[in-house]
Amino acid sequence: MRKIVIAGNWKMYKTQSEAKTFFSEFPTHLKATAPQAAVFDRQILICVPYTNLSLLQTVVPAIGHANLHIGAQNVHWSENGAFTGEISAPMLVELGIKYAIVGHSERRQFFGETDETVNKRLKAAQAYGITPILCVGESKQQRDTNETESWIFSQLAADLVDVDQNNLIIAYEPIWAIGTGDTCAANEANRVIGLIRGRLTNPNVTIQYGGSVKSDNIDEIMSQPEIDGVLVGGASLDPAGFARIVNYH
Ligand code: PGA
Repeated sequence: MRKIVIAGNWKMYKTQSEAKTFFSEFPTHLKATAPQAAVFDRQILICVPYTNLSLLQTVVPAIGHANLHIGAQNVHWSENGAFTGEISAPMLVELGIKYAIVGHSERRQFFGETDETVNKRLKAAQAYGITPILCVGESKQQRDTNETESWIFSQLAADLVDVDQNNLIIAYEPIWAIGTGDTCAANEANRVIGLIRGRLTNPNVTIQYGGSVKSDNIDEIMSQPEIDGVLVGGASLDPAGFARIVNYH
């Protein structure tokens, strides 16, 4: 069975005090927007800046929501070492973190991540029992020149070498849809995600869509049969809006 995972990616937003405010309000909104009493087959994950991880691992359990998890936005491939500015899997495990985004397009674009480093990070996360969320997606130019499929297939081929598909989430995030308000049409996201699934050895991998997901397009996105969840940037910063996304109808 494919798991539904509704994930937020806070990127470089929210200090500790802002994070505390979010979680003081989020449970009320979750209750207020719930479509029916018990729809919690859905996993909720919020990937926060490293500086919030330790704090939120104490704040979030107190909310008492079994399906609500905190994740990281990256993880290094080494256990430790001279890698200034990086965080290792054992450091995340010590905090009880079970999820980490890997290969987000902003990491690839601004911080020099390659398919090779993405692959190493995926394997390191898994070696420590962390479920990585691998992000793949094409640029506007690649879409316009009909390279979407070949580009994504090449990312998958390189990123997934020796990666365990039984402990993996994939997010299809067209780069042109990230932070632009220009959402990929739901049926097109569904089509690409179906193609991605066709390249996997495990057809039960959770595959999310990401890119300008909002409370007003979530219902249509989640009505698509291939889409198993979403990775939400901007709209995950607002507790009311993100609660409505979690509680899609
Ligand atoms: P967005 O970001 O929802 O703000 O478009 C998505 C992402 O980068 O994961």
